[in-house]
Amino acid sequence: MSKKILIIGACGQIGTELTHKLRAIHGVENVIASDIRKLNNDVVNSEPFEVINALDYNQIEHLVEQYHIEEVYLMAALLSATAEKNPAFAWDLNMNSLFHVLNLAKAKKIKKIFWPSSIAVFGPTTPKENTPQYTIMEPSTVYGISKQSGERWCEYYHNIFGVDVRSIRYPGLISWSTPPGGGTTDYAVDIFHKAITDGKYECFLSSETKMPMMYMEDAIQATVDIMEAPTESIKIRSSYNLAAMSFTPTQIAAEIQKHIPNLQVTYKPDFRQKIADSWPASIDDSQARQDWNWKNKFNIETMTVEMLKQLRENVYK
Ligand code: SER
Repeated sequence: MSKKILIIGACGQIGTELTHKLRAIHGVENVIASDIRKLNNDVVNSEPFEVINALDYNQIEHLVEQYHIEEVYLMAALLSATAEKNPAFAWDLNMNSLFHVLNLAKAKKIKKIFWPSSIAVFGPTTPKENTPQYTIMEPSTVYGISKQSGERWCEYYHNIFGVDVRSIRYPGLISWSTPPGGGTTDYAVDIFHKAITDGKYECFLSSETKMPMMYMEDAIQATVDIMEAPTESIKIRSSYNLAAMSFTPTQIAAEIQKHIPNLQVTYKPDFRQKIADSWPASIDDSQARQDWNWKNKFNIETMTVEMLKQLRENVYK
């Protein structure tokens, strides 16, 4: 019998593609998708799907027992820009959903957890270029504080209670099928849509703001790989640095202009500029490459070609 997997936050930007991937690997009936709301999309319609509140321990425990769940992927969270507008709720959601899942593993009700961290764990005092795995971490955003605290708790539950929790510090994620929800790196997705629909884009960050980014297919592959890796190869139980490419708005605009020469980009930085300024520009992910053979497939050129192709074929046909 194949193992049963629960994805919490399955309708979000990462959750949607993760659900498809895990269902392709393990079989649709073995991957239970769940979210706070029932959308009309493939993840929901292909079943099994359950409405669940990630803040309700009893609901999660009930689902785990009902479906004999072994692995949980906790993808529900408030992202950086949204979290600044609602700090108390962001802290509550991002921390307590994690405690619920960690406690289920501590009680031996589940065997393995995936929990996403972020480049937001770093802060203004962190070295900006080629940010090391171990370095100064003084996050200055609500989201970053919650992810940094979460990482500490993951490592603690692993060391003290033997919980098998695995985590990646995702960079900005670029995808075409599901929109991002309230992040600072979202501009790198928005610009593709606007390039196709309007031929112009007003960027909410300044032109030279360089940040680490990754195409969703790579992010999903990394998630699958870290979860499938043998226990002994996972040497870091807080969270792994992960990288694929870094670019500024100017650079991604120029890359898109190779295909859409008329694209015009203007810059009007808003409150998200300060968040972006506090984050790394590039990441050293050599430990992930060494420990569990992480390797990205997409760079800025191939990602741009793929994004435009997929959007034209599937979204703006
Ligand atoms: N991409 C996320 C954000 O911008 C960072 O993890 O909030």
